[in-house]
Amino acid sequence: MQITLITQPFAGIETEALVSYVFEETDPIQGRIGEIDQALAGLLRKLAKSGELTGKTLEFTLIHAPAGVKAARLLLVGAGKREQFNGATLRKIAGAALRYLKSRSIKNFAVVAREGDSAEETAQAVVEGALAANFETDKYKTDRKNDKNIETIFIAGYSDAERAAGERGLSKGRIIAEAQNFTRDLVNEPSNKLTPRILAEKAEAMAKEAGLSVEILDEKKIADLKMGALLSVSQGGPEPPRMIVVTYNPSNAKPGAPVIGLIGKAVTFDTGGISIKPADGMEKMKYDMAGGATMLGVMRALAALKPNVKVICVVPSTENMPGGAAQKPGDIQTAMSGKTIEVLNTDAEGRLILADGVHYAKQLGATHLVDAATLTGAIVVALANINVGVFGSDQAWTDKLLASAKAVGEKMWQLPMDDEYREFIKGSFADIQNIGSGKGGGSITGAWFIREFAGDSPWIHLDIAGTAWNDDAKPWLAKGPTGVALRTLVHLVLSY
Ligand code: BES
Ligand code: ZN
Ligand code: ZN
Repeated sequence: MQITLITQPFAGIETEALVSYVFEETDPIQGRIGEIDQALAGLLRKLAKSGELTGKTLEFTLIHAPAGVKAARLLLVGAGKREQFNGATLRKIAGAALRYLKSRSIKNFAVVAREGDSAEETAQAVVEGALAANFETDKYKTDRKNDKNIETIFIAGYSDAERAAGERGLSKGRIIAEAQNFTRDLVNEPSNKLTPRILAEKAEAMAKEAGLSVEILDEKKIADLKMGALLSVSQGGPEPPRMIVVTYNPSNAKPGAPVIGLIGKAVTFDTGGISIKPADGMEKMKYDMAGGATMLGVMRALAALKPNVKVICVVPSTENMPGGAAQKPGDIQTAMSGKTIEVLNTDAEGRLILADGVHYAKQLGATHLVDAATLTGAIVVALANINVGVFGSDQAWTDKLLASAKAVGEKMWQLPMDDEYREFIKGSFADIQNIGSGKGGGSITGAWFIREFAGDSPWIHLDIAGTAWNDDAKPWLAKGPTGVALRTLVHLVLSY
């Protein structure tokens, strides 16, 4: 899909559809929409007066053969209240417009930016929204495949003076959205097509193409390094585990800047192991590698955006199977750090593999850590599929991440980490146990378990179990993987 910034006046753009957005206000026909209305000889004002055009969020008004402009159609998308409008709204508008037009077999359209918005941020949001919306999850369909394609998008409504800023936003948006779709593509793969070995191969290919260093630890190296927690999860099935390490090491790294460690859970399928999950909905557990896929996507974006900070990405990957050699409730394992773990529930496997992932990232030199994981069903109880759960050991570091989330419009909510919760994972027969002894607080207990391995390093845990997968298609996004948290993490690294 080609995306081009153009500065010519909107009336002369030859395209199948001119797209703009309308705010919900007493008079929605203002500013740029007022200009379009003039070209159309007052048609929009008539529609507004009749109550058909209101600007309500994601209201679509399609006008065919509009007089006064060269475009074949005019599509107006409701943007809601002007005070609440932000980059997140614009991404949804651009995405919803793309999916609306694509489903009508349209091949090109022009988005006309509104007056007064930042040229760079607007272009970036439109590109991110459009590319994310264009992603389809029909890779394995042979019939009913969506063969409709948007070939070209023009980003319009800019002056010559705004061109450079607009182009900057466009190229940044493209890098980030393509990385996010790379992540979604991995998450969409079923477990028979994406084993830990295949994930490692894909990570290696991505890293080589992007110019990042990469090291894949196989089961032998993992055993040599005594990563007992990761090994304990993988022993239940025939697929060997992998520890994937991708490093971005810029020659101009700022002295004194942190070395950021990004650790992602990549369980390519989670049956629960011997503490087996119910059959209903188990197929979704192919997305239990979303944390790892997110971190790999972040690395792909960083390689192109070239920040001045070193970043080490560590992705422990395994299946969680209930085979004859599987670990059993009550088994005691020794993690790479030397801590002993009583495995009371084999379905709490994410925290086990992250224990070794976090410890290894520190050993490789990471000073500031973030992990992302589809860790707990409890986070869905707490925050539904709306907010990512955020847990942190250092408020300054956590605040930085929350500020990035806000800046890129990803919803995240911090949960408490009081010392009292730590008591829940004190072991009876080993140092710690992998599930809580208390009632409730399941996501916090999971976070505390991982924190045990972060030691004194500033650490953040993102529980994306509720947000990494869309159960239903949205007007702006296909059903399936969302790629959540990637944009926040890229922003966080870029903020140094
Ligand atoms: N992968 C699951 C968590 C999950 C649940 C992800 C729903 C996505 C959707 C994780 O490994 C798990 O099974 N967690 C258990 C922990 C429990 C045994 C303490 C859970 O949430 O039930
Ligand atoms: Zn599990
Ligand atoms: Zn899991």
